[in-house]
Amino acid sequence: MGRPLLSLEQLLTEDLETICTDLASELGEMAGGSLLVTGGGGFLGYYLVQTALHWNRTRKGRGAIDVTVYDNYMRGVPDWLEQLRGESGLTLVRQDMIQPLPARMPHFDYIVHAAGIASPIYYRAHPIKCMDANINGLRNLLDYSVAEAGHGRPVRGFLFYSSSEIYGDPALDAIPTPETYRGNVSCTGPRACYDESKRYGETLCVAFAGQHGVPVKMARPFNNYGPGLKITDGRVLPDFARDVLEGRDIVMLSDGSPRRTFCYAADAITGYYKVLVRGRPGEPYNVGIDRPEISMAQLADIVCATAAELFDYRGRVVLGQAKQADYLVDNPNRRCPVIDKARRELDYQPKVLVEEGIYRSLVWYHHNRTAAAA
Ligand SMILES: NC(=O)c1ccc[n+]([C@@H]2O[C@H](COP(=O)([O-])OP(=O)(O)OC[C@H]3O[C@@H](n4cnc5c(N)ncnc54)[C@H](O)[C@@H]3O)[C@@H](O)[C@H]2O)c1
Repeated sequence: MGRPLLSLEQLLTEDLETICTDLASELGEMAGGSLLVTGGGGFLGYYLVQTALHWNRTRKGRGAIDVTVYDNYMRGVPDWLEQLRGESGLTLVRQDMIQPLPARMPHFDYIVHAAGIASPIYYRAHPIKCMDANINGLRNLLDYSVAEAGHGRPVRGFLFYSSSEIYGDPALDAIPTPETYRGNVSCTGPRACYDESKRYGETLCVAFAGQHGVPVKMARPFNNYGPGLKITDGRVLPDFARDVLEGRDIVMLSDGSPRRTFCYAADAITGYYKVLVRGRPGEPYNVGIDRPEISMAQLADIVCATAAELFDYRGRVVLGQAKQADYLVDNPNRRCPVIDKARRELDYQPKVLVEEGIYRSLVWYHHNRTAAAA
């Protein structure tokens, strides 16, 4: 066994400390204000919410950020959030974003709309709910922002989670992909409920920014992974991690050739807060990492080697078949972002390369075998 098995506390403290240091100016600007995170019980919510709480615990002098989570907890309240219940500065509300907003909704200075069905396995099973959360849920929050401005207490920042999937399967000359690429997307295929509702969501944001001055910006995440991503989520890295932790071979559901860049959660969360606070209204920002772009086969090999070092894992990589026959239909062959816009405008600097991110993720899954499944 080669690499040290960090404790869960060490891992989280290191990541949250890095995020808060990199975001000193943005979180400083939010200090003393209130933040609504819809879908805060999900993967990206894990570090979004804990970043604000870590800030409150460690940078007290600068004013606290009050965080409220709206989530329908479709897969139950995750253990980590249950453990944080009662912490000063955190309010948990069960709210389905497909339904009208609460009648007496308090004022929020910042809004992050992350509620949605992000995993292909789940959005294929619930396509209408997927579209409703991306469209109706977003629309309600935009209308709320217009009303708040009308009452003389404007929202100061609003972030809509779009997706790199809005690019569909990019033409070869559009890889790496800049924000200006218009996409190659099916509006009727098995992924259309997700891709097209994210596209329309962005159009809504542009219209509300232009017509009503809502300070809404769009983030296009590129393959985020890491602590908080449920092992049962159906995305590739947790699938590989589950194989490892159950001591069986790593099963690849494609021929191993599709290529991606993988952006570790701590880097991505830094990017999202920067878009929220510094991004220009009505503008999309790619949030990911631009190197290295690796194949699924290479990813599986890195997981295998890291698990061997960490847990003395002896498995190998094998080919398998997905349960859903159309699992790979419209699955992009390559995805790699151009992140110059976020670098230039927001000083976004992702730095965790995939080997280090996989190491940290496997440590997290090791400590969260059952919690991660909830
Ligand atoms: N993780 C990524 O790499 C990635 C990539 C592209 C886009 N995104 C987008 O970012 C956002 C967050 O993604 P994630 O990875 O954290 O997803 P996730 O599935 O882990 O979390 C989403 C959360 O939203 C909640 N939710 C779902 N429908 C809801 C509804 N109708 N009302 C209230 N809550 C609801 C779920 O209970 C869950 O807690 C999503 O909009 C997703 O489409 C994520």
